[in-house]
Amino acid sequence: MVSRLILIGFMGSGKTTLGRKLAKKLNYQFIDTDTLIEEQEQLSISQIFDQKGESYFRAVETKLLDSLENHENTIISVGGGLPCFEKNMEKLKQLGTVIYLERPAKELYQRILTNIQQRPLLANKTESELLNYIEKTLQDRDVYYRQAHFILNRDQQKISDLQAIVLEN
Ligand code: S3P
Repeated sequence: MVSRLILIGFMGSGKTTLGRKLAKKLNYQFIDTDTLIEEQEQLSISQIFDQKGESYFRAVETKLLDSLENHENTIISVGGGLPCFEKNMEKLKQLGTVIYLERPAKELYQRILTNIQQRPLLANKTESELLNYIEKTLQDRDVYYRQAHFILNRDQQKISDLQAIVLEN
């Protein structure tokens, strides 16, 4: 039985929604790294990017990882960029079972369009810039995301699929 399940994937891949539902079903705790950072910094993610810059945010993300070791029976949803900086992917894999929620760039684009303003890396982009950015960034991040213990395509991302991974591993 998996005690710590970690969901990774690009912005808009559904990590938080799925993670929250799964935690409820399994009676696990749910943690979202962006929410933890917002609480810790008393600022929204957009405000952190604006006021302190991306590298500050990345340093906070990396530091946060070390504090997650004490959580048992927990589903952790991590910010889309977190696995792709420092040795974070290695650390995540030591922390628990890592699942990559994979989705094609065009689908992520459609899902992201509705709440682009809350995402500092995407705000102020035109629709065509947004699609280009997603395609390029997804390609750059692929090498990190693919190191996950499990890679689930969009047809394998039902609660029952994830529940089976938790129960059988
Ligand atoms: C980011 C993803 C966001 C958030 C920040 C940066 C990224 O999290 O951490 O805006 O670099 O992909 P979500 O993936 O939960 O949207």
